[in-house]
Amino acid sequence: MKILQTTEELINYRKTLKQDTGFVPTMGALHQGHISLIKTSISNNQNTIVSIFVNPTQFLEGEDFTTYPNRYQADLKICELAGVDALFIPNIDDIYFKNEPSIIAPMKQSYILEGERRPKHFDGVLQVVLKLLNLTKATNAYFGKKDAQQLFLIQNMVKTLFIDTNIVPCEIIRDENGLALSSRNTYLSDAEKQKALNISKSLKIASKEMIKGELNVEVIKEKMSEILSELQIEYIEITNRKFEKIEKIILKDSIVLVAAKVGTTRLIDNMWV
Ligand code: PAF
Repeated sequence: MKILQTTEELINYRKTLKQDTGFVPTMGALHQGHISLIKTSISNNQNTIVSIFVNPTQFLEGEDFTTYPNRYQADLKICELAGVDALFIPNIDDIYFKNEPSIIAPMKQSYILEGERRPKHFDGVLQVVLKLLNLTKATNAYFGKKDAQQLFLIQNMVKTLFIDTNIVPCEIIRDENGLALSSRNTYLSDAEKQKALNISKSLKIASKEMIKGELNVEVIKEKMSEILSELQIEYIEITNRKFEKIEKIILKDSIVLVAAKVGTTRLIDNMWV
């Protein structure tokens, strides 16, 4: 596996590639969710590049940018064992410049839900993803459905800025108890992990209600909120897949979304219905 530390090294490496390139952007602290993206990329492309870059511009003041889990040695082994061809690990100065145009995510979908709690977060995400897609010129790039709003905004950016990369949404990976995998789960104590399970349980409740024929958004949200009452709920929302408000669930075009804090750790989860 090649280790590429600068944008120049990445560009030179990419120029040697003749066939399909799959790309998995990450911020490190890799878990089974990332591994599943990496494996999907490896089975569908001749070459797979993974990046590890904790992107400063997507963190708000007071968030965990400086304490974001760093597991570089373990990440390196994971990528090597998975069969990744190249790992890109740039410094901040390689990626960002003093004078550069900034990307502003569309207001409508980036200042609701996650964006309402984390203003400008998606501007930073899009800024770095645009740079990474330009650098890798990936044929396919892999993103988890867990960050549903991020995925939507990236798909929209790729479409509207005519970026020649296919964005591949990948399923949420959960632990044996149902907790959606996230690098931030490492912040949770055992007791907090137990409490956090109520998030995926609330999604199961929503699913059971729908199976029974209940499609009223407010009724389902109410049922979900009962099991989430021990957590600090940030939002329980059900929208269509363009993140627009709906009153009735439209099957195959809706998403049930939850964000809640367990202790000081903020977790998100969702279910595509
Ligand atoms: O989902 C993430 O880990 C990050 O937002 C991403 C896409 C790597 C951009 O920094």
